[in-house]
Amino acid sequence: MSACRSAFAAALLLAGGCAMEAKPASSPAPKLGQAMTQAELAFWDTSIPIDGSNLPVGSGSSAQGAIVYAQKCAACHGKTGAETDTRLTPLIGGVGSLATKQPVRTLGSYWPHAVIVFDYVRRAMPYNAPKSLSDDEVYALTAYLLRGNGIIDETLVLDRTTLPAVKMPNRDGFMMASDNAK
Ligand code: HEC
Repeated sequence: MSACRSAFAAALLLAGGCAMEAKPASSPAPKLGQAMTQAELAFWDTSIPIDGSNLPVGSGSSAQGAIVYAQKCAACHGKTGAETDTRLTPLIGGVGSLATKQPVRTLGSYWPHAVIVFDYVRRAMPYNAPKSLSDDEVYALTAYLLRGNGIIDETLVLDRTTLPAVKMPNRDGFMMASDNAK
């Protein structure tokens, strides 16, 4: 029986896993890339659950973050991050706008958990050099962005304990599909 008829058929189809079967048998498999090693997997698989349970050691303040921001982020995201003429979603602004006629969805107004800011910046930014930031720099940048959005006080130092405790304005704006059934 082909893999496509197995119990996993639906999942495979969704993932495009059966696409090869539609081609003639003579068509060679594309020689794309190679399997990741365990070390590569560990390097990239750094996802942090929203409860922050595997946040790394380190810390940073918004004042420290402002310095890193100017050096490593401003070129693409604008001088402060609040600029609206960068062709990117502003990083600062929009808080309180979601229920208005012109909602501005930013990390401050829209993202439900502060840990996501840390996780995203740590894995994906700067866009041209992802994973080049130290954990202290990421804590500091997260503090800078949350401070800019008026979500934390400028004296708050973010670390693995204080960051998950930050409550985002849109924390309760999302619902699980399972909530619908109730
Ligand atoms: C070379 C340009 C570039 C640099 C430098 C850069 N970014 Fe980005 N950033 C982008 C692009 C492009 C996106 C949109 C990516 C996407 O949608 O996939 C983005 C998206 C983001 C987002 C998500 C915004 C949202 O609401 O979706 C955050 C947060 C962010 N960047 C933070 C940073 C921080 C912090 C730095 C500095 C360490 C940084 N970026 C440096 C280009 C850049």
